[in-house]
Amino acid sequence: MIVSPSLLSADFADLKGEMQWFNQSPADWLHLDIMDGVFVPNISFGFPVLKHVARLCRKPLDVHLMIVQPEKFVQEVKELGAYLMNVHYEACPHLHRVIGQIHEAGMKAGVTINPATPVSVLQDIIEDVDLVLLMSVNPGFGGQKFIPHTTRKVKELRELIAETGSKALIEVDGGVNAETGKLLKEAGADVLVAGSYVFNAPDPAEACALLKNL
Ligand code: DX5
Ligand code: ZN
Repeated sequence: MIVSPSLLSADFADLKGEMQWFNQSPADWLHLDIMDGVFVPNISFGFPVLKHVARLCRKPLDVHLMIVQPEKFVQEVKELGAYLMNVHYEACPHLHRVIGQIHEAGMKAGVTINPATPVSVLQDIIEDVDLVLLMSVNPGFGGQKFIPHTTRKVKELRELIAETGSKALIEVDGGVNAETGKLLKEAGADVLVAGSYVFNAPDPAEACALLKNL
């Protein structure tokens, strides 16, 4: 299992300290949630902050843009040194073009769908993306409750990937903990994002290890 802790639940007054344990932990990627107060009803952090996080982080950056018109920021995400750029299906009328722009910039491209968006909309883009991010909460906030229908969506997506021969990984974001993580693993998830479960744990590195070895 690839584990991608979400910085949204970190202590923003001590990002340096958070990056210290993180770099030495079994976590694989760092998940960065960028919000604009338009696509989602919250604002998190932007590029001036993330530039410093990127400088301190020794692991691949998994960037999740919860913003309208994410295509405007391909260059900024690339300059962070991101490994993966995730854009929402619901925010991109020209999704195929955006995925191409992300690839041209030299990054892996992910498409994200909200809890009310069915997996079937991915039919004509699944072969072009490196990853699908399934939201298991309504995006915008950490610490929400896992929406159970996500495990069924993971299975449906697994089938679509097999049918099309796509190489896309399946990532799940929201309300992930040891219990929901196990269900997601059984359903066929490849990557788990976890914010509050990891950052609020007495030993965050141990929480990462637990998710990794579910
Ligand atoms: C929510 C974000 C998530 C969030 C997850 O909009 O996309 O990445 O940090 O937080 P938890 O794991 O606490 O649900
Ligand atoms: Zn996220």
